[in-house]
Amino acid sequence: MLINLNINGKAYNNVNVPSLDMPLLWVLRDILGLTGTKYGCGIEVCGACTIIIDNQREHSCVFNVGSAVGKQITTIEGLSPAGTQNHPVQQAWIQNQVPQCGYCQPGMIMATEAARRAGHHGKEILSEVKHLCVCGTYQRIRQAVQYL
Ligand code: FES
Ligand code: FES
Repeated sequence: MLINLNINGKAYNNVNVPSLDMPLLWVLRDILGLTGTKYGCGIEVCGACTIIIDNQREHSCVFNVGSAVGKQITTIEGLSPAGTQNHPVQQAWIQNQVPQCGYCQPGMIMATEAARRAGHHGKEILSEVKHLCVCGTYQRIRQAVQYL
């Protein structure tokens, strides 16, 4: 079935999905090639798949693609579309050398950005970013959000 999506300010028309129930994560990664969003648990526990839909943080592993039609979807690729990593959250992450393996970091960054859009700043953001990081980068995330 063919659907239209708006992702990172760009129209993706006639996206061919097998079902409207397909998790958005797999549409992003496997159909559209937007692989910045990661899979971790698939059950809304780890946060690796976090994206922003209409300014709300969402877990794309359980968000049906049919529910995303007509909404503004933002993925990690959309924060600094030119690839310059000049978005304030990315800059804070770089300056504090947050990532280790990096796998969980797109979800951490997107949850942080959603918290900023909700009006949170500094350490307030931490209550919105309770994700899993097996590398244990939590201390550097605490440092980074102080600048936001
Ligand atoms: S993969 Fe979605 S919360 Fe873990
Ligand atoms: S940086 Fe490796 S899982 Fe978080």
